[in-house]
Amino acid sequence: MQDKQRRPLIIANWKMNKTIMESLQFVSDLRKKFKEININGADTVIAPPFTALKAVSDSIAGEESLALASQNIFWQEKGAFTGEVSPVMLVDAGCKYVIIGHSERRQYFAETDETVNKKINAALNYNLTPVFCVGESLQQREEETTFKVIRSQIEGGLNGLSEGAVNSVVIAYEPLWAIGTGKTATPEQAEEVHGFIRAILRETYGSGTSETVRILYGGSVTPENINNLINKPDIDGALVGGASLNVDSFVKIVSGSI
Ligand code: 13P
Repeated sequence: MQDKQRRPLIIANWKMNKTIMESLQFVSDLRKKFKEININGADTVIAPPFTALKAVSDSIAGEESLALASQNIFWQEKGAFTGEVSPVMLVDAGCKYVIIGHSERRQYFAETDETVNKKINAALNYNLTPVFCVGESLQQREEETTFKVIRSQIEGGLNGLSEGAVNSVVIAYEPLWAIGTGKTATPEQAEEVHGFIRAILRETYGSGTSETVRILYGGSVTPENINNLINKPDIDGALVGGASLNVDSFVKIVSGSI
């Protein structure tokens, strides 16, 4: 990269993969690799499953360039919500970021713009950085409703937030047709939507916010395509699924973003 003011951010979303032992092995290998290359030019975040959060948090303690994310959050602090995990618990486990509204959560667990909005508010109230995911389906892209879908997801998710609050949000554009398919959006396709999201931020919150908020791309990101993506003016990093499960490919993506 490039002389962007925004620092590159690469997030490993492991989804429902890796036991505690496997997670610790990954982090130990990652730390060794990070000593060999200069990774201080980027922020690197790992989002393991809930069960491995605390162990990973302990093992990355003291690493300035590495932070922890959860893959979900519930908006209540505590109470009778069987199976849910609260913002207090995530902070307690060492999280700094939380992925919210991933398309898999919207698709399989009925998350809506309204619940996503509650989760973003809850995260911000506890100083967790929301990684707010949006993206259109293949059908929506083919019907040419991509911009309409993205606008309504952005407006719904950020509804009621102040400009100051939005400055603390990270947005991830993940077209559904590119997730886990090996079919990456071209840098031009991704940039078109990133630019559109930044324009919505500018018209709603002003240019300070639109220039501050980091917008990540997600969907079949690999060591081979990261460079062309991050070279686009409005792409500030990546939310990586499959290629983040392997240390070598993840490290290549991080170094390719700097
Ligand atoms: P893949 O990188 O496996 O396509 O997954 C993208 C994703 O959903 C990251 O959140």
